[in-house]
Amino acid sequence: MRRVLCSLLFVMCVFFAHAANVDSLLNVMTHKEKVRLVIGGGWGSLFSGFNIPFCGKQQVPGAAGVTHAIKRLGIPSVVMADGPAGVRIKPRQHGKTAYATAFPVGCCLASSWDVGLMEEVGGALGEEAAAYGVDILLSPGMNIMRSPLCGRNYEYYSEDPLLTGKLAAGMVRGIQGKGVGTSVKHFACNNQETGRMHNDSQVDSLTLFNIYFKPFEIVIRESNPWTVMSSYNLLNGERTQESRWLLTDVLRRRWHYEGAVISDWTFRRRTRRQIEAGNNLMMPGDVLQRMDLKKAFKENADGENMLDTCVKRVLQLVEKVQRAREERRWREPRLEEHAVLARRAAAESFVLLCNEGNTLPLSPDVRIALFGASSYDMVIGGTGSGHVNAAYKVNLSDVIGNSVGERLKSEYRRWAKGNKHRNKAAGFGFMQKYLGRGALKEMPLKREWIREALDSADIALVTVGRQAGEGRDRERSDFSLTGEERDMLCAVSDEAHLRGKKMVVVLNVSGVIETMSWRSLADAVLLVWCPGQEGGNAVMDVLTGAVNPSGRLTMTWPMRLEDLPSTRNFGDEDVTRYEERDSVGYRAYFDSERIPAYEFGYGLSYTAFSEETLTDGSVLVRNTGRMAGRHVVMWMKNRCLSSFRKTRLLQPGEEEVLRE
Ligand code: GLC
Repeated sequence: MRRVLCSLLFVMCVFFAHAANVDSLLNVMTHKEKVRLVIGGGWGSLFSGFNIPFCGKQQVPGAAGVTHAIKRLGIPSVVMADGPAGVRIKPRQHGKTAYATAFPVGCCLASSWDVGLMEEVGGALGEEAAAYGVDILLSPGMNIMRSPLCGRNYEYYSEDPLLTGKLAAGMVRGIQGKGVGTSVKHFACNNQETGRMHNDSQVDSLTLFNIYFKPFEIVIRESNPWTVMSSYNLLNGERTQESRWLLTDVLRRRWHYEGAVISDWTFRRRTRRQIEAGNNLMMPGDVLQRMDLKKAFKENADGENMLDTCVKRVLQLVEKVQRAREERRWREPRLEEHAVLARRAAAESFVLLCNEGNTLPLSPDVRIALFGASSYDMVIGGTGSGHVNAAYKVNLSDVIGNSVGERLKSEYRRWAKGNKHRNKAAGFGFMQKYLGRGALKEMPLKREWIREALDSADIALVTVGRQAGEGRDRERSDFSLTGEERDMLCAVSDEAHLRGKKMVVVLNVSGVIETMSWRSLADAVLLVWCPGQEGGNAVMDVLTGAVNPSGRLTMTWPMRLEDLPSTRNFGDEDVTRYEERDSVGYRAYFDSERIPAYEFGYGLSYTAFSEETLTDGSVLVRNTGRMAGRHVVMWMKNRCLSSFRKTRLLQPGEEEVLRE
C-alpha cells in the first residue's frame, strides 16, 4: 500500500511539475515570444523539392513545417511532416539517403477492417518519423468519402463514420505509441478538393454530428491525438479556422479535447480571429501573421487571455514532444522490416470482387500474359502531401516469373520509355501534370500482340490504373473506363475466351470506378487500390493464394455516379450544399429500388465461412471451406454499422466467437 501511495505521489509531482512548468513559462514570456509560439516557423517544403525556411536551416529538409524555438526559455522547435502513407521528407538528408517506407494508402489499409493492423502500420510510421527527427506526423487523413470523385479519397478511410473513427484511432495509437504526435485531419467537412481554400460546406446540424463530426469524436475519445488539423474550407458560412463554435464549443466543451489545434497549411488569413476561435497554432506560419498579432490583444485583457490559451496549448504540445524525445531510442529506420509489413498490410487489404469458377488462386507455374500499362508501372500512392519518397516500388511485371508474349512485353517497354511522366507523383506532387486526370494513359493494343501472347499463355491478367491527388477532384469521366481501357478489356477477353482461357482484372486505382459495363468480361476482379512500394509482391501473394484475400469495401461502388445523391452538387466551386443530409454511401440506398454494383462491406474469399448469432449477440464464425482465411463480422443497428470485428486466421474447420 505504501508503495502505491508513493508512486501516486510521484506521478502527481511530475504532473504538477509539468503543469507548473507551462504556467511558469507563460508568466515569464514576453508578448513577442507568445506571438512567435503560435505562428509556425515558415514554409518548410511546400513543394517537396523546395526548401524555403523563413526560420533558418531546416532541421529535417522536406518536412512540412516547424514551430519557432524560444531559446531564452529552452523551448525547442517542433518538426512536423506528412503523411498518411509514409514520412514525406527529402530523400537525401544531411548527405545521406533518407527514404521512407511507402505503405498502402489510407483507403487500401482501411479495406482490411483490421484495427490491429492499422495500429501496427502506425507503429512503423511512428518509428520512421522518430528516426528522421519528425515530432508530429500529419496523419491520419480521415474525412468522410461523401463522393467517389473527391481527389483525396485515396488518403481517407470510408463513407461510414464509425468505421473511419475506429480505424483512425488504431492508426493514432500506433503512431503515438512510438512517441510521435499525430494530426487528425481535416476538421471539418473538407470533403472535396474543388475550391478547397474557399468552398463553403453547408451541412445541417444532425448530419454534421452523425456523419461528418462523428469520426473525429471517436478518434479523440479513443486515442487522444496530440493535434487536430483545422481545414481550409468554410462550414456554414464560417471559416473552420475562425469558428469558435467548432474549435472551442464542439471540440473543447462538448468533446473535452485537450490537445492543440493546428491550422492546415494556410497563407495569412484573419490571424486574430483564428486565435479568438481557439486555433492554437497557425501553420506553416509567416511573418505577416506575426505582424497581425504584434499589436493585437495588447489593449485588452480578454484578448490576452485568448492568446494565452493558445500559447498554453502549444506549450503543452512542446512538452509532449520534449518528453517523447527524451524517451526515444533513436535508431535507423527499419526499412527492410517495414517493407515486409507494407507487403503483408497490402495483401490483407485487397478486396476480391469477383472470382467466377474459382479462377483464383492461380497455380504457381501458370503462364501469364500481362496487359495494362499499370502492370508495368504500378500506381503505388497518390499525389500531393500524401506522396512518399520511397526507395523503390515493385511492379507486377517485376514479380511475374513466367509472363509470356515477348512482343507484347517489348511493346510495353518501348511505350513506357515514351511516356515517362505517365505516373509521376514526384517533384511538385501538388502540381504534377496529370493531376485530376486520374485515368492514366493506356497503351493501345494490337490484336496480333494479344494473340501472340495468349497463344503461349494459360491466363490473361489486365491491370487498370487510376491516380488522384490533393488539390483537384477527379473529373466525372474518370469514373468510367477510357476508350483504350475498354478496347483493351474487350479484346483481351475475346481472345482469351476464344482460346478457352480466362481473364483476371486487377484494379490499381485511387478511387471508385464504374464496373457494371465491363465486369462480365472478366473471370476474376481483384481490387488492390494504391498498395504501396511492395504492391507487386502483395498482388502476387494474393493471386497465387499465398494470402487469402480478406479485404472488404469501406465504401459503396455505385452502378452510376448519379445513384449517389451527393453527385448532384459535388464539386461546386464556392458553396456545396449537402442536401443529401445523411444519405451518404450505403445510407443512400435505404428504401430505394436501386442497388449498388458492389455494396459497402462486400468482399470475397478463397474459402467459405458460416456465421451463427449466439444468444448474447456475439457471432460464432466457422471456416467451412478448404483454405485458411480471415472473416469480418459487421453488426448493424437501424441499418447502420454499429460494430465490426475481424477473426484471426482460421484454418479449415476452425471457429472463433466475435463480440461487438
Ligand atoms: C496540405 C494538406 C494537409 C497537409 C499539409 C502539410 O495542404 O491539406 O493534409 O498535411 O498541407 O503539407
